[in-house]
Amino acid sequence: MPDPSETIAADHGRTPVGLDTSRASIARVYDATLGGKDNYEVDRVVRDTVAEIAPRQSDVAWMNRRWLHRVVRYLAGCVGIDQFLDLGAGLPTVCNTHEIAQQHNPTAQVVYVDNDPLCALHGRALLERNEHTHFASADLTEPDALLACPEIAAQLDPSRPLALILCGVLHHIDDDADPAGVMRRYIDAIPVGSYVAITHFWDPADGSA
Ligand SMILES: C[S@@+](CC[C@H](N)C(=O)[O-])C[C@H]1O[C@@H](n2cnc3c(N)ncnc32)[C@H](O)[C@@H]1O
Repeated sequence: MPDPSETIAADHGRTPVGLDTSRASIARVYDATLGGKDNYEVDRVVRDTVAEIAPRQSDVAWMNRRWLHRVVRYLAGCVGIDQFLDLGAGLPTVCNTHEIAQQHNPTAQVVYVDNDPLCALHGRALLERNEHTHFASADLTEPDALLACPEIAAQLDPSRPLALILCGVLHHIDDDADPAGVMRRYIDAIPVGSYVAITHFWDPADGSA
């Protein structure tokens, strides 16, 4: 079994490993943390290593998912937002953004984005029969290229407000990639009246605040 610190840290965990099952992937480790089945031993070793340092990791992942459910329910149900762009969407799990949004509005458009090809494979298979939900493979650190993706440009109406969701993903973006600048670019680009919803894992004990 490879050393988990080597498998995920060799490239700081930033390049998606996709179909390479000899290395842990962010999406599969997160799936394992949520108790999902789309993960391998190498991912579970990383999950368990993280749990030694952060024993409430699984609770945090579930709190994060429940936050996503609440925010989508609020935006689709109370605010009337009918376009959702979910960046760093991960592997499909229980109650995904489109399921919640489309409970309130069956024609709500949802586009998921992830840079891990495995997420795109799973996502496209799940969404085959849902004409209002699509998956785009793109890197969120390149906002202009991402927003120009055909799946996004074709599905989301740039003249109406949308919800831009980044749930548990920004902490994966290195400072070198300027996450604040990336977010500024998205906020400038999305239509007036849009909503931006972010969760960000943070260790209050790490002294960075
Ligand atoms: C912790 S998971 C969160 C999944 C989901 N948003 C949730 O909260 O349940 C983070 C996801 O972000 C994706 N990701 C990481 N860096 C990314 C990037 N630069 N561009 C797009 N997706 C990225 C990973 O592949 C992974 O699927």
